[in-house]
Amino acid sequence: MSEDQDPKQVVETAGAAFAQEFARFTGGGEAPSSLKDAEAQLRELAELRVRHAGKKSAIAAAKKLIGRVPAEQRASFGQLVQKTEAQITESLAAAELALKAYIENARTARESLDVTIPGRRLQTGRLHPITLMRQRIEDIFVSLGYAVEDDREIETDFYNFAALNIPEGHPARDPQDTFYTTEGFALRSQTSTVQIHAMQRRGAPVRMIAPGRVFRRDTPDPTHNPMFYQVEGLCVDRGITMAHLKGTLAEFAHRLFGPETRTRFRPSYFPFTEPSAEVDYSCFNCGGEGCRICKWSGWIELGGSGMVHPNVLRAANVDPEEFTGFAFGLGIDRTCALIYELDDIRLLFENDVRFLEQFR
Ligand code: FA5
Repeated sequence: MSEDQDPKQVVETAGAAFAQEFARFTGGGEAPSSLKDAEAQLRELAELRVRHAGKKSAIAAAKKLIGRVPAEQRASFGQLVQKTEAQITESLAAAELALKAYIENARTARESLDVTIPGRRLQTGRLHPITLMRQRIEDIFVSLGYAVEDDREIETDFYNFAALNIPEGHPARDPQDTFYTTEGFALRSQTSTVQIHAMQRRGAPVRMIAPGRVFRRDTPDPTHNPMFYQVEGLCVDRGITMAHLKGTLAEFAHRLFGPETRTRFRPSYFPFTEPSAEVDYSCFNCGGEGCRICKWSGWIELGGSGMVHPNVLRAANVDPEEFTGFAFGLGIDRTCALIYELDDIRLLFENDVRFLEQFR
């Protein structure tokens, strides 16, 4: 400070310089636009404090002049310095308080939950109707003491045909024609293949069911698909007879369709069972009177069955002199279509969510 400077002028300039810079701060200016803005303003405010109220500030310099002004002006000059300094520090303190309050509120708002906002409904998935049907069938057989077997879908000729007593050139290969790979493998055309795998793996006695996907060169129509699901059943032990087969499938039909359901066995032919039978059950809808579902016959076909052929036991290294057994095979898709009253089994593979979400 030079000798010729007017001390009063120094104080007034200090006050005016502060007022000019302070104008844009909260308390003297506009409210911050965001939390980030408020945090930046708080940092700038700290710099402003150093510049206008710190040791090297103009007001600090003015204080040093108090002793130098003539005695008669000293009191009023001292008051002016004090008042200006108080204005600066009070303005800074008020702005700091306002900014800190703003920051505190903004941080709380950012971290809080608005419990009044309506919740978003979770889109839960549903099981496919074929899976639901398979699980119902599995539950029944598991409670009857059957194991559930899972096996391969790509097979050799041995498992799909030869071991099931269907030698090359046998006419029974025709309706079960399937899809072949170039390496001599084929997509299995029936779950009966698992009979052989299960007996080879477990030996006898054995009681198992094998649900799974099978493939045939069938043209799609309301009751046929080139890919569909079957469940195979196999029970091999000492002294197993046709009576066990009939009792088991009758019990299965009671549990799946209701206790009043009747079953009937019609003679049939499968190369891997002897004797063989088609199994029907009385219509679950009309009880046997005749309706649209059972095509007015009162009966619905469940699947094929029979006593395991001795050649099949031999192919799986089970002695037919010691063991006998029964086997059966049901189509899951058609049973599913009947129970859910679907006109066309192709609906099951169109993957239309509006269709699929109706099942639970
Ligand atoms: C068999 O596949 C025998 N393996 C069943 C068997 C097992 C008999 C054990 C004796 C002992 P079949 O070809 O009839 O049999 O088929 C059984 C079931 O599969 C049929 O009742 C039907 O429900 C279903 N099915 C057959 N072809 C198709 C197809 N293209 N689309 C949908 N379901 C089919």
